Amino acid sequence: MPSSAIIHAAVFTAGAVLGGGIAAVVSSRTKPSSVASTSPVPPSNSLGAPVIGLNSTGRTEVSRELTVASSLPLALKYGNPGPVSDVLVRKAYVAGYDRRLRHPAWTAEHLTRSSVSKPAGESGGDRQNSKFIEDESLPSPFRARLQDYFRSGYDRGHMVPAADAKSSQEAMNETFLLSNIAPQVGDGFNRHYWAYLEDWCRRLTGSFQDVYIFTVPLYLPKQEADGKWRVTHEVIGSPPNVSVPTHFAKVVLTTKPVSPSTPDILELSTGAFVLPNAIIRDDAPLESFVVPVEAVERAAGLTLFSDEVKSASKHICQSTKCQVIVRRFDDAQKQSRKAITAPK
Ligand SMILES: *[C@@H]1O[C@H](CO)[C@@H](O)[C@H](O)[C@H]1NC(C)=O
Ligand SMILES: *[C@@H]1O[C@H](CO)[C@@H](O)[C@H](O)[C@H]1NC(C)=O
Ligand SMILES: *[C@@H]1O[C@H](CO)[C@@H](O)[C@H](O)[C@H]1NC(C)=O
Repeated sequence: MPSSAIIHAAVFTAGAVLGGGIAAVVSSRTKPSSVASTSPVPPSNSLGAPVIGLNSTGRTEVSRELTVASSLPLALKYGNPGPVSDVLVRKAYVAGYDRRLRHPAWTAEHLTRSSVSKPAGESGGDRQNSKFIEDESLPSPFRARLQDYFRSGYDRGHMVPAADAKSSQEAMNETFLLSNIAPQVGDGFNRHYWAYLEDWCRRLTGSFQDVYIFTVPLYLPKQEADGKWRVTHEVIGSPPNVSVPTHFAKVVLTTKPVSPSTPDILELSTGAFVLPNAIIRDDAPLESFVVPVEAVERAAGLTLFSDEVKSASKHICQSTKCQVIVRRFDDAQKQSRKAITAPK
């Protein structure tokens, strides 16, 4: 182990009071310290776990054998708080999860004309066969729970829409993991304008070769009566667990060959849209939500595209019409979906 040092530390405690003395020596020994051998309590099985026991004078001794990467500051010897960015790689998307907010920090997708349609001759994914589920790959204290959304008044809003994952039932099921979900206003947002925007993103696959989409929950400050800027947001669950974003961003990048004779020379287009997590009128123009990609990056603390990509790309609204299709006619179907997505 050339890049790390083995640290033997004995932490002594008397009764319930943590003793002041912590003895630590750095050595290259790999065997647990001798404390273990005098211990009446069998040492725990996992390597490096503390060995707890009473020594001959009746005081509790905890010996720890810790492997600390030499590149880590000593302040992190007993605990490295993170943040841990859980990168969740699924069949139809990748997500970064925010353990504090208990919803994705971002999701990323790659869509093509074939990826958004059901595979020929196969059944593909159907949302009627999917159920919302808690993501057991995340540590339990940081997971969003079904219970947190129950009677919250918010929809379980897909960041990667189920309809973007029709390739298989398994791919679609993965979009129902709560690690792909954030609380969204239902009527007028998740079930309407936000759904129109998702549909517009999918329809880009009709005009472009490849479509890349980032979906980013945001917490934007608002200026209040006293002139100060504050971020206020609800937290749902009892006890409160899952934060309710104030806004959501969709950031798209499309590619298409500049000309059919040069398929390797691609024209890139990018665009970012920021929508409030609130009722949006059907007649609101999509262009009214356009912001610079950098504005989303600054608000989220994320880098979405490199400077090269940003400077080499046209604006998406110059490459295609930035206009949503309003679909109120299938509200009956949305109401049945509401029964699935929005227990109130
Ligand atoms: C037992 O632990 C105490 C510290 O809590 C230490 O001072 C003492 O030397 C230990 N005795 C033996 C025999 O290891
Ligand atoms: C999809 O999810 C449903 C509901 O949880 C489950 O019954 C089904 O087995 C899953 N299908 C696949 C292919 O994972
Ligand atoms: C979150 O939910 C879990 C399970 O319902 C609960 O035990 C926990 O106390 C909740 N709150 C926080 C802040 O983790």
